[in-house]
Amino acid sequence: MTPPIVAIDGPAGAGKSTVARQLARRLGFTMIDTGAIYRSVALAARRAQVAWDDDAGLQALLKSGLGLTFLPVPEADDAQRVLLNGRDVSAAIRTPEISRGASVVSARPVVRENLLGLQRELGRAAVNGAVLEGRDIGTVVFPDARVKFFLTASDEARAQRRHSELADKGLHLPLSEVLGDQRRRDRDDTERAISPLKAAPDAIVVDTTGLDLSEVVERCFQLARQGIERLPQP
Ligand code: DC
Repeated sequence: MTPPIVAIDGPAGAGKSTVARQLARRLGFTMIDTGAIYRSVALAARRAQVAWDDDAGLQALLKSGLGLTFLPVPEADDAQRVLLNGRDVSAAIRTPEISRGASVVSARPVVRENLLGLQRELGRAAVNGAVLEGRDIGTVVFPDARVKFFLTASDEARAQRRHSELADKGLHLPLSEVLGDQRRRDRDDTERAISPLKAAPDAIVVDTTGLDLSEVVERCFQLARQGIERLPQP
């Protein structure tokens, strides 16, 4: 039996990660950041010298097993570490270069098909329930998810959030560069032929522009709790 699944989809910078982490903590669910999986594929490919658009090379890499583990870090509140073959790659998968790579590999059908089973296994293995964050969770990975959110925000608000996050990590890029990069990634995500970014017809769309993310978490928590309690177990 599949545990209750909460899907959170939307473009980069809409607040998905923060909301997914805090929502999972409040519901007592496991948080699964599916973007980190695509990022890990891009990093693994780079390390194995497989080009991000080399379908045969990517297929071989994925078939040999990614060796991906998510570890919660309780002392760091909601943080989670990502291990690739036992090595901590949490920071290495967040560089601008690997962000570009993740965008390229995520458009390859061979990658999406290979990762579908993994994402479903991770969700089903979460005993109490799972919050999965991504682009196609409510449309493709778990179309029967109990509750679906589609988080969005204006281009400027999203770029501003990303700009501040990067500055917190010591990376000071011009806002215009962050905005330009974001628009390119949005275009790639929404225009790709396979599993493009779009809201599921039954998703609750939340525009987070100008909202404090703690308000968004509170609103999503109430809606998720109602959704989980209301529906019978499948
Ligand atoms: O959410 P993120 O920025 O960590 O995602 C990294 C890349 O992976 C981004 O280009 C979108 C893609 N992605 C995807 O295609 N499908 C998902 N379920 C999650 C991420």
